[in-house]
Amino acid sequence: MNINFKELANKYKTPYYVYDFDHITSQYNELKDAFRARKSLVAYAVKANSNLSVIKHLANLGAGADCVSIGEVRRALKVGIAPYKIIFSGVGKIDAEIREALSLDILMINVESDAELNRVEMIAKELDKIARISIRVNPNIDPQTHPYISTGLHENKFGVDIDTAKRMYIQCKNSDNLDPVGIHLHIGSQLTQLDPIKESVKIVADLVRNLKAIKIELSFMDIGGGLGIVYDNEKLIDTNEYAQSVLETMFGLDITVVCEPGRFMVGNAGIFITKVLYEKVNGNKRFVIVDGAMNDLIRPALYNAQHKIEVIDKSSDISDCNLVGPICESGDFFAKNIELPKTEHNDLVAIYSAGAYCFTMASNYNTRGRVAEIAVENGKDRLIRKRETFEDIIALEEEFIK
Ligand code: LLP
Repeated sequence: MNINFKELANKYKTPYYVYDFDHITSQYNELKDAFRARKSLVAYAVKANSNLSVIKHLANLGAGADCVSIGEVRRALKVGIAPYKIIFSGVGKIDAEIREALSLDILMINVESDAELNRVEMIAKELDKIARISIRVNPNIDPQTHPYISTGLHENKFGVDIDTAKRMYIQCKNSDNLDPVGIHLHIGSQLTQLDPIKESVKIVADLVRNLKAIKIELSFMDIGGGLGIVYDNEKLIDTNEYAQSVLETMFGLDITVVCEPGRFMVGNAGIFITKVLYEKVNGNKRFVIVDGAMNDLIRPALYNAQHKIEVIDKSSDISDCNLVGPICESGDFFAKNIELPKTEHNDLVAIYSAGAYCFTMASNYNTRGRVAEIAVENGKDRLIRKRETFEDIIALEEEFIK
């Protein structure tokens, strides 16, 4: 990655997100290649970074899309992802979303409860359609990650247990409007341990074989997303070992493997660049105040996430500080007790691993416009989302002022 942050700051102002599209390409190819022994679909988890140009880039590489709202489905279709590569997941789909997904003829709707299956069946009947569905199984395995992003335990709201899943598949088999084509699991995000994945995929593969024995033959086994990335000094799961251990469970099955990576694809492609406004000292505590804030990148405030941080072109006079934004909350920080060089007004600070769940979780809190997004590909930069203006922020309210 060779990006001139200063040049981009002069051209586009700060704060901004920049994404290295070549990194996204190599991540996609690495994963796709790891599954080469079988038919596979890498369905990018759009929620990680839903910028249309990012999705388009992945679409050009051959990726499908894992979507959790009809808005995400529309984004995927807009940039040319074929309906047969689109999956619609999520614990709480509204009727209008189910209706639209059915009429768009996407690959499958991923159902997360008994009640939802009934709803999908009813709507499919109304539309005189056959709904292709998968069922999300909750294997009750601890993924050993942050509790907020852990999803594969019964105490989490996601999926159904094995026995319920089995019953639901039988209901599908007996229905004129449901076609069970897939099975799904996703035990959590930022996973760095292979064993919980192995264990849960095995549980699900066993269920697929049981279903086959009663003549319910599934075509897609969706193992979810979750592959972790390096933020700090994490030891990662090797992608080949990951694919190998997943494929090993699938003996005796003629099934396409689907995975839904988000963070793995885009996380380390993104860097958030923010500018130093001031330094100050309160008591003994040094604060570096920058123009970016928690509304732009909330992961440190929300999950206590630690992103690697550097002051560009500075390395001397290092001391402990908190790196904070201008928002009126003590939670508005990027890092606490971090060693950073002495800074001056206009120095640039880079916050790494900011390609996933950063821009997509941004808000307009404090009437701050969302920042610009820039792509760099083959050494060339281009704007892929304009910085929001004050007018953009008030656009949906203005007409109602009395
Ligand atoms: N599939 C399903 C069903 C999911 O719920 C998720 C993420 C993914 C795939 C993609 O997971 P990934 O490959 O990116 O780990 N905002 C949090 C992460 C929330 C993840 C939600 N689900 C964060 O900033 O860490």
